[in-house]
Amino acid sequence: MFFSKKCNFAFLIFITMCGIVAYVGHQEAYPILIEGLKRLEYRGYDSAGVALLNKADQLNVYKAKGKVSDLEAKVADKDISGHIGIAHTRWATHGEPNETNAHPHLSKSGNIALIHNGIIENYLSLRKELEKRGFQFKSSTDTEVLTNLIEDVQQSEHVDLFEAVRIALNHVIGAYAIAIVEKGHPDQLIAARKGSPMVIGIGDGEYFIASDATPIVGRTQKVVYIEDEQVVRIKLGEELHIKTIQDVEAIPYVQELKMNLDSIEKAGFDHFMMKEIYEQPTIVRDTMRGRLHPEANTVRLGGIIQYEKQLLYADNIVFVACGTSWHASLVGSYMIEKLAKIRVKVEYASEFRYRDPVVTPHDVVIAVSQSGETADTLAAINLAKEKGAIVLGICNVIGSSISRATDAGIYTHAGPEIGVASTKAFTSQVTVMAMLALRLAELKGTMKDEERLEFIKELDSIPEKIQWTLDHSGHVKDIAAKYKDVRNMLYLGRLQNYPVALEGALKLKEISYIHAEGYPAAEMKHGPIALIDKDMPVVFIATNHSTYEKVISNIQEVKARDGKIIAIVSQKDVLARKMADYVIEIPETECLYSPLLATVPLQILAYYIAVMRGCNVDQPRNLAKSVTVE
Ligand code: F6R
Repeated sequence: MFFSKKCNFAFLIFITMCGIVAYVGHQEAYPILIEGLKRLEYRGYDSAGVALLNKADQLNVYKAKGKVSDLEAKVADKDISGHIGIAHTRWATHGEPNETNAHPHLSKSGNIALIHNGIIENYLSLRKELEKRGFQFKSSTDTEVLTNLIEDVQQSEHVDLFEAVRIALNHVIGAYAIAIVEKGHPDQLIAARKGSPMVIGIGDGEYFIASDATPIVGRTQKVVYIEDEQVVRIKLGEELHIKTIQDVEAIPYVQELKMNLDSIEKAGFDHFMMKEIYEQPTIVRDTMRGRLHPEANTVRLGGIIQYEKQLLYADNIVFVACGTSWHASLVGSYMIEKLAKIRVKVEYASEFRYRDPVVTPHDVVIAVSQSGETADTLAAINLAKEKGAIVLGICNVIGSSISRATDAGIYTHAGPEIGVASTKAFTSQVTVMAMLALRLAELKGTMKDEERLEFIKELDSIPEKIQWTLDHSGHVKDIAAKYKDVRNMLYLGRLQNYPVALEGALKLKEISYIHAEGYPAAEMKHGPIALIDKDMPVVFIATNHSTYEKVISNIQEVKARDGKIIAIVSQKDVLARKMADYVIEIPETECLYSPLLATVPLQILAYYIAVMRGCNVDQPRNLAKSVTVE
């Protein structure tokens, strides 16, 4: 665990991407809830809803299909008063996205309203039992079943809501983060979680609940991350009361929230994605802060210090990750093998978890994830643990499920990444990989001191070089204008620039919906070359490193077939720039670090192409920020 608190993920299942916000306190709840839902919009959703308990003890529930703004329009002439309420954005899992299936769900008596993030796997059998007992259901959701299960327990066991939730959750198989408001209790919220994140903000005479800290930022800095299988009573004027569902009292662990409001707003950029691209010089510096020490020719990674020996003597280091985090891991594998001479494997977490991989207690598995909530990566962690491997994490979100499920880890310190397409998370992950490789090389003695010092100094200069790259990327917009209407694009690079090709292609396809493929440049002749014609732009990452001449030959092959060439080149490049239709320069650097620079203009290229095509850059279709479903 990154934290010292215990957490069991043996029961982790597939959870949804919904967003939860709840409030109780001295202020009107509605504006706080709506603002909170808007801050959670990046997670992806298809309907939204809110429940408010007013002074007359009426529990008003409003729902809308579509965006939070549709919900706002819907409640324009409704009673939205109340100092307590719960609100939700839903990503459909059971039943289509419509108002009936949207949360909050009311119990049969109408006394309790509940919002839920997760999936109740045994909801059908629970529903049948409840139907036998006279309950009827309006929606197709597992959430309405859970709501009525709690009410059934409350009525038949004659217990209060807190106890009813605790007992009911013992009958539930699945994942949940829930928040409940009850008539007659205008000062109390009940919440619980298992396998789905939840955080409570403690303000002055007020409490907040949310799926992650973004709705809470700027409202309070005191937070408690709820652990799996815990139920919480949040009552005004009282301390948080936490119990496990097994009826064991737990002490709330209050932490300071480090995010600030600026960090989740757009800071003058049109989109979060561009803001995050421009944050990269700062982020990379933050990632290295206190860890990279050029003056002492060393790297210190405090989070994994007690596992350094195991890393050094590991039979294999195995990275498990998805998407962009997988690309960063691939860069990491090149770095660690080259500098520290330790065997590294890079696995898609989704494949690893099902293919019965050979992992032993002599391996160290490193899970890499921006969100720390990716279901496949969490499942891969569980599998690796079952096989006895030490599991470390490289993760951005503090207190996330992955940071808790791993034995130890390194935070990337990239700050909240709101744009769905990962940008600064990638550069921060690669920076961590570079430091890890250098640290292992130092311990293993695989590099001479002077050579290591050169690498450390060069890494230290990367933030300025990223800034230079950003400052000289104005013409990327013109390249985007030229190619915004193409139907396909190919990205080619070799060695450490092969993952850059993959990442460039992923960025383009996910936000502009143009089909794009990344390949190792030499693989072109084994198939993709058949695609080349005058309508096919090919992006070459042609920095002046060991395979430069070979990449030049590939450029010639494309040129000979009338393909259009966009070349990312080093400042001193002579050859590639002569052949390319468009050139993007990056500063000279050590070859292993070129992904930290070369990826940046590719992010910008994808961004402008997507904007020019009228795409929703920050929230691309069909995608969500945290892929917490399998
Ligand atoms: C691409 C992207 C995804 C994520 C992937 C893993 O821009 O964002 O490919 O990289 O879903 O997510 P994390 O890193 O949160 O585990």
